Amino acid sequence: MKTRILKTSGVHRRHSIAIASRLIREGKLVAFPTETVYGLGANIYNTRAVRNIFRVKGRPQDNPMIVHIWSIDQIAPLTRSIPSIFFLLAEHFFPGPLTLVMKKSSAVSGLVTAGLPTVAIRMPAHPIALQFLQQSLVPIVAPSANLSGRPSPTSADHVRDDLNGKIDAILDGGICKVGVESTVLDISHGTPVILRPGGVTREEIEKVLHCRIRVARATRSNPSSPGMKYTHYAPEAEVVLFEGERSAVLKAMADAALRLKKEHRTVGIMAGANVERSFTGMEFYSFGTSGAESAAQRLFAGFRSLDSKGVTVILCQGFTDEHIGSALMNRLRKAARRRIRV
Ligand code: TXA
Ligand code: MG
Repeated sequence: MKTRILKTSGVHRRHSIAIASRLIREGKLVAFPTETVYGLGANIYNTRAVRNIFRVKGRPQDNPMIVHIWSIDQIAPLTRSIPSIFFLLAEHFFPGPLTLVMKKSSAVSGLVTAGLPTVAIRMPAHPIALQFLQQSLVPIVAPSANLSGRPSPTSADHVRDDLNGKIDAILDGGICKVGVESTVLDISHGTPVILRPGGVTREEIEKVLHCRIRVARATRSNPSSPGMKYTHYAPEAEVVLFEGERSAVLKAMADAALRLKKEHRTVGIMAGANVERSFTGMEFYSFGTSGAESAAQRLFAGFRSLDSKGVTVILCQGFTDEHIGSALMNRLRKAARRRIRV
């Protein structure tokens, strides 16, 4: 199969979105940009298309998928009951990087929800995604558009690297602004629980709901969100994560880098832009200049970039576990083979 790359700059936009939406209606798979990461979309009502997503990604069947919508009117047919806090959350965070888990209606196939009685729904805040969803006329089921186990894609090139020749089209909307996936919040029973930290922070949700929100601790045997039990986000290279006070972390990273170089390892570094000078002669990937926020935005691209440079070990600067740093650290801890506290 030839994968079409659909440009969306300037004059291309209308035509490309029209083609992508038509492909979805015909039961094809189309990767599309969102503000978090690229999604691999299929028509929720086309069983064969939904099955194909699992097949091309190599995704385990017991990992449910997020349903993407463009209008609040699409919620009622997908859910059995809508909790009152839904409206408060939607008012503040839709469209945006928040996914809400609610009791599903019979219209949602168990294939989408991996047999769960709940469905995860989100409205992405990306103008191209919204237009594409609207013109497709159906809710679109979409996991991240990477091969299972690989870092999520934050550009059309990343999608092509993983899925070229396996899907019908990629709608190229440039680089994703948030860079980590949406926050998954379960509001299906009683108190809301964060199943996956992401683009909307716990602090932001607490401010709107006026209460403390629990973050579920996922373990392998008792995953809060089924997807959390799988190895995720990991590059080929071994990731070593350094956590603690910033200057101590950077010193420990520099020491470790020199040691590894003596052992003839090809070392990659991921750290803030302003410390590059401490790591001359090594593959340096900059987390940018805006702390955890730019680090989150650049994280997955960094894993892919350092892998392509052939490094065998990545020493990575950790950040504080708050605001967007929580989502960033969640992904980093999953990717890390070793964590060093300094
Ligand atoms: O930002 C995002 O959420 C991106 C973009 C494309 O929207 N999507 C994404 O999808 O990250 P995926 O499939 O890679 O991750 C979906 C997560 C998984 O951890 C899955 O287990 C969880 O959402 N999930 C989906 N449905 C669920 C449900 N009914 N109950 C609990 N967790 C659910
Ligand atoms: Mg994913």
